[in-house]
Amino acid sequence: MTASIMTDRPAVKLGVLISGSGTNLQAIIDAILRGDLKAEVRLVISNRDGVQGLERARRHGIETRVIEHRKFRSREDFDRALLAALNERSVELVICAGFTRLLSSVMLEAFAGRIMNIHPGLSPAFPGLHAQRDALEHGVKIAGCTVFFVTAGIDVGPIIVQAAVPVLPGDDEVRLAARILQQEHRIFPHAIQLFQEGRLEIQGRTVIVKGDSTVSNSPPLVNPPAE
Ligand code: GRF
Repeated sequence: MTASIMTDRPAVKLGVLISGSGTNLQAIIDAILRGDLKAEVRLVISNRDGVQGLERARRHGIETRVIEHRKFRSREDFDRALLAALNERSVELVICAGFTRLLSSVMLEAFAGRIMNIHPGLSPAFPGLHAQRDALEHGVKIAGCTVFFVTAGIDVGPIIVQAAVPVLPGDDEVRLAARILQQEHRIFPHAIQLFQEGRLEIQGRTVIVKGDSTVSNSPPLVNPPAE
């Protein structure tokens, strides 16, 4: 985790949107508990009832709500319900953590530049629901994951952090997805911490990470290895 450059800023208030198992939500909670992430999860909203992510939140005493998209006539009406709940809890940054619904202009305008999502692919390659399978089918040697700011479109917003994951001989979708997921759990809290520190500046399609000088120390990843 990058050393904090603005530790006096208050904890960022998060609203986390989920649809399923919530392992990324768990990684965020764990990073907060370890002191690696200065954030507070004010509210977890699921568009599906009975999912494991809700249980994870409750176990940590975090408020949960189920807002089922099926009960709304339009995407916009559903988003208005999300927005009302998030505003009620003074949420500053919305985290889509395994949230499977596309957001409409209602949410995108209200939280412009303040919605993050994670994608199990190295954007802009392989957007959509089957990034790991698509990467394998294309024979890529390096797969990975991406945290980005949500804009209109599928997995196309300004990129904040990426992690590269080599594809290993004999990988199938399940094994590759599991190794990518481990990296998701590292980079999502990291991206949120950068936001908390006020270090993310969106310039068009690009996110400038202020005060970032460490990346040049990392050796390039070559797969298969060159030596
Ligand atoms: C993750 O691969 C995430 O990138 C994708 O959904 C998967 C499950 O996430 N959007 P989680 O366990 O519910 O956080």
